Amino acid sequence: MNADFLEIIKTRRSCRKYRPDQITDEELQAVLEAGTYAPTSRGLQAPFIVAVQNEEQRAELAAMNAEIMGVASNPYYDAPVYVLVFAPSDAPNPVQDGSCVLENMMLAAHSIGLGSCWIHREKEMFATERGRCLMKSWGLPDGLAGIGGLALGYPQGDPSPAKPRKEGYFRIVR
Ligand SMILES: Cc1cc2nc3c(=O)[nH]c(=O)nc-3n(C[C@H](O)[C@H](O)[C@H](O)COP(=O)(O)O)c2cc1C
Repeated sequence: MNADFLEIIKTRRSCRKYRPDQITDEELQAVLEAGTYAPTSRGLQAPFIVAVQNEEQRAELAAMNAEIMGVASNPYYDAPVYVLVFAPSDAPNPVQDGSCVLENMMLAAHSIGLGSCWIHREKEMFATERGRCLMKSWGLPDGLAGIGGLALGYPQGDPSPAKPRKEGYFRIVR
């Protein structure tokens, strides 16, 4: 394996503190494009990705997520971009497809110096009437489920190193 790429994998951390300035269009494009190259079940490219930079919509999404989580804080950590991943509920493997997209984007983000963090609860957020309405306003087709989201932006501060990996995480059978 390419040593640099292995280093990217090993040094990616969930970022929970972001600078307020917006990332560049080139950076956003690079991250989103990496998502589109994720493997998908039967090669169907079933997922859809929505990157939200709009301030009012980010505030609304944060409030929707916070309500489900039962907190008053912003679950997307006030990041300048929220990236949402959807997949058709009747796709062969919607969660697995969407998860591959999310991971590709997190690694791509880290490789160009951006911070990201997987944010949960989009399934519930987009099962609501308001969630469906937002999806429609973004031009998404009917029948999609929320799979997951990312907070994305320039990290504020340096992340701590990853915890040691657990004993017996993998084994090799020869
Ligand atoms: C399915 C999934 C859901 C997650 N949901 C959240 C979340 O809602 N909020 C959050 O801050 N981190 C969330 N995370 C990030 C994990 O907490 C994080 O990956 C874990 O603590 C390990 O830290 P690291 O990513 O820095 O290695 C989620 C991660 C996964 C894979």
